Amino acid sequence: MLLDNHNRPINYLRLAVTDRCNLRCHYCMPEHGLQWLSRADLLSYEEMLRLCRILIGLGINKVRITGGEPFVRKDLMKFLTELSRIEGLQQINLTTNGVVTAPLVPELKKIGIRSVNLSLDTLDRERFFQITRRDELPQVMATMDALLQHDIVVKINAVVMDGQNTDDIVPLAKMTKDLPVDVRFIEEMPFNGGDHFNARPLWDYTRILDTLRQEWPDLEKIPDPPFSTSMNYQIPGHAGTVGIIAAWSRTFCGTCNRIRVTPQGVLKTCLYDHGVLNLRDLMREGLCDAALTDHLLLAFNHRHKNGWDAEEARRGVPVEESMATIGG
Ligand code: GTP
Ligand code: 5AD
Ligand code: SF4
Repeated sequence: MLLDNHNRPINYLRLAVTDRCNLRCHYCMPEHGLQWLSRADLLSYEEMLRLCRILIGLGINKVRITGGEPFVRKDLMKFLTELSRIEGLQQINLTTNGVVTAPLVPELKKIGIRSVNLSLDTLDRERFFQITRRDELPQVMATMDALLQHDIVVKINAVVMDGQNTDDIVPLAKMTKDLPVDVRFIEEMPFNGGDHFNARPLWDYTRILDTLRQEWPDLEKIPDPPFSTSMNYQIPGHAGTVGIIAAWSRTFCGTCNRIRVTPQGVLKTCLYDHGVLNLRDLMREGLCDAALTDHLLLAFNHRHKNGWDAEEARRGVPVEESMATIGG
């Protein structure tokens, strides 16, 4: 098992395959002005597969594909098929906005994808447009239906934003009545690619929980799976569950089992760090697998204890990257 310097197992890689996206969510990027990475700046699929092989050899057994929106990168399905053939990899998961995903669901099932996280902040079409700056709610709902029809586990990610979608908390949670989905409410973080704020969000996890408890006083705490980012609950009698991800409050750092590779091939050992290793440049300089492994192990041995330490170590560089250039 791969352990870091705080004795935390590392078995989960979040791999961002593109910085591009077909939505423009306020909490993730500005409407104009994001400078997309050029093709040459991005890791190629071959480079990603090489990294995955090395990391899986070291102990990674779960890879989550993120972006940007992963499905806007050409030939993603071919890449997923190759990835699924690597021995030792137990799960490939995806985080998608669902805009173009529905028709691809049967193929995802064939590749062996068992769980997909879908970003969905509201069930109201007008509000969806305001938040994402695009009118695509029906397509996202079609993706949710297709996933459920194919028996793929669905987790819904809803970022809770003051003055925007707090009235959606209850309707989103009500979806769990008949649908076997996990609806997870997320504290807003400052990764929006622009105007940085970094105060505690007005809607932190305690306030989100209070809102749920007001509607359902008998909300039940259920056990959290190992390494869970969410605190999980169930409304009695409902088919699905609800969860809260204290992403800003960073309550789950003690069991953090994840590393990230950004679309440009930078290794992050914490979401809040500023990037610890440029894997793309090392590969393009011609390093062999053994040398790359040495660099990786050194980085895993110098992880920050938590997101607060990682943020502190940025020494004045504000947390303002876009989630799309990090991979969430
Ligand atoms: P599961 O693998 O299904 O448990 O999902 P996940 O929570 O790891 O992944 P997902 O991509 O669905 O992320 C949900 C939310 O949690 C997003 O807002 C992420 O940015 C946030 N999140 C995921 N990992 C971390 C992390 O390591 N630190 C913090 N602070 N937030 C995270
Ligand atoms: N704060 C919290 N979560 C965010 N996400 C994107 N931007 C932010 C942010 N600023 C979430 C999306 C997506 C996941 C990978 O990250 O909901 O589902
Ligand atoms: Fe891991 Fe950093 Fe996120 Fe904490 S804030 S859970 S240490 S990535």
